[in-house]
Amino acid sequence: MPLSLVLLFWTVALNLQLTNARNVPSATGEVCRVWAEEGGRAVLPCHLSLQKLESSSKQLYKGLALRWVRHGDSSYKKRQWVLMVDPSGLKKWGHSTMHRATVSDTGFLHGNFSLRIEPLLKEDAGTYEALVKYGGEVWQCQLELGVMSVTANPPGPLIESEPIRLTSSSTRSESPQNIRWFHAGHLIPTSGRFCSLDQTLFISRSVRSDSGPWVCELTFADGERISATYNLQVIGFAEPIVSVVYTAAGSDAHLPCILNYNPMDYGISTVAAHWSYAPRRELKATATFSKGRKRNFTLHLPAVGPDDAGQYTCEITIEGTTITKNVTLAIMTVTPSIEGTVTEGSHLLLTCNLSYHTEKERFEWKWLGLVPTNSSWPEATSRSFGVLSQGSTLEFSQVSPNDAGIWECNVHGPDGMSGSVQHHLEIAGAQTALVQHRTAEKITFGLILFLLILVFSILSLTLLKRRIHARNFPALDDRMTASALSWKGVKDGDQEEKVLQI
Ligand SMILES: *[C@@H]1O[C@H](CO)[C@@H](O)[C@H](O)[C@H]1NC(C)=O
Ligand SMILES: *[C@@H]1O[C@H](CO)[C@@H](O)[C@H](O)[C@H]1NC(C)=O
Repeated sequence: MPLSLVLLFWTVALNLQLTNARNVPSATGEVCRVWAEEGGRAVLPCHLSLQKLESSSKQLYKGLALRWVRHGDSSYKKRQWVLMVDPSGLKKWGHSTMHRATVSDTGFLHGNFSLRIEPLLKEDAGTYEALVKYGGEVWQCQLELGVMSVTANPPGPLIESEPIRLTSSSTRSESPQNIRWFHAGHLIPTSGRFCSLDQTLFISRSVRSDSGPWVCELTFADGERISATYNLQVIGFAEPIVSVVYTAAGSDAHLPCILNYNPMDYGISTVAAHWSYAPRRELKATATFSKGRKRNFTLHLPAVGPDDAGQYTCEITIEGTTITKNVTLAIMTVTPSIEGTVTEGSHLLLTCNLSYHTEKERFEWKWLGLVPTNSSWPEATSRSFGVLSQGSTLEFSQVSPNDAGIWECNVHGPDGMSGSVQHHLEIAGAQTALVQHRTAEKITFGLILFLLILVFSILSLTLLKRRIHARNFPALDDRMTASALSWKGVKDGDQEEKVLQI
């Protein structure tokens, strides 16, 4: 077999040639150890020293041979070849590292024979040796590859509240002296939800914010410190967690129930959502979720009334684990202190009512004008001196006809949710004021029209006069003749008089 021949060649070469080694030894003279994470990338460094690079011509790298071998766990007998580069440049891989081990071609030509293994398996741990042969010289690199990993049980994404066990392991035979766990850069205390035993961290009840990288750091007696990361995903409700939704009576309500991750992205298809409303068995609107939608389970309630106010519960069951969320629907209404028609000059209070409140709401009143529009107007307090907005109540010390129109109450809840309700304020005196206003408008319009007609008439007259004048100017001499002749006949005299009048 050519393979065994090649192996034989290398063994002979090793034994016969003086090993002009360029190792990468550690300070203590031991073989350098490289750590990498399981599933990640390992780079085993091996390159010629700068002096060697300078003393050799670039031509050197043409026609050199490289061979990476692995000596299992301390047993030198069990040799595996990893990667081979022929003098012709042809690459050959060992069975176990096929498609995973590489040597950069450009690096190779610059004396960098570093081996890259990706994705790394636990079985890749061991002692590695690189032999570089050119002409009569053989260079050697030797180093040890250690593999560390953090595994999770159960694997895959968690559903909020589920427990999880994270276990770290390394290919170093001795036990670490110190074990520390970090999440998002913070050291994890071994209390409360967390319990640490040997190289295992137990999280009794996961929360949404446990999502992200978990790092385990191991420190050994000789001071070597290594770490590995596990990326945890905890499926729960998406932020912000809305607990109260404010909706005006008569409007459509949308109660959010959204997951932070789509379970389908993790191959979970058994997701069921259920909405319930404590006071009634049947929901006014049955939540219909399209099949593809496995993240957003928002409930839409059409034209809500006071009967719909209260607590709703969204229940999502993912692979047998149920997570629930309560959302309270607060119905907004406006109550005026005066029932029926409001007369001009009376004292009026408009109160913005919530069927449910957290005591942390902030209210804001706005005047939207006489006709409903979407544009925002300045706040009530800055509009009129007689209006005072205090919390949910808007006070008119003396209602004036100018106060008529649409008033809007905006509420801002502690979760960042807001809602609004509008009230149409009609004032008895305002009608006559409006009529007077309209009459004044009509008079103004009439006056403007009259003036326009007048100006137009004057202009037309002037133009007409000019045109006639312009036509008669060339005949001025004739006119003089005509006046001389007029004495001759009465008929002609009439004509002459007309002309002279102009
Ligand atoms: C050698 O190549 C590896 C990748 O193959 C790289 O990570 C490393 O930085 C290189 N070393 C030098 C000294 O260029
Ligand atoms: C929802 O409300 C019910 C009844 O008030 C309560 O028992 C339950 O613990 C609440 N659920 C959540 C997730 O807050």
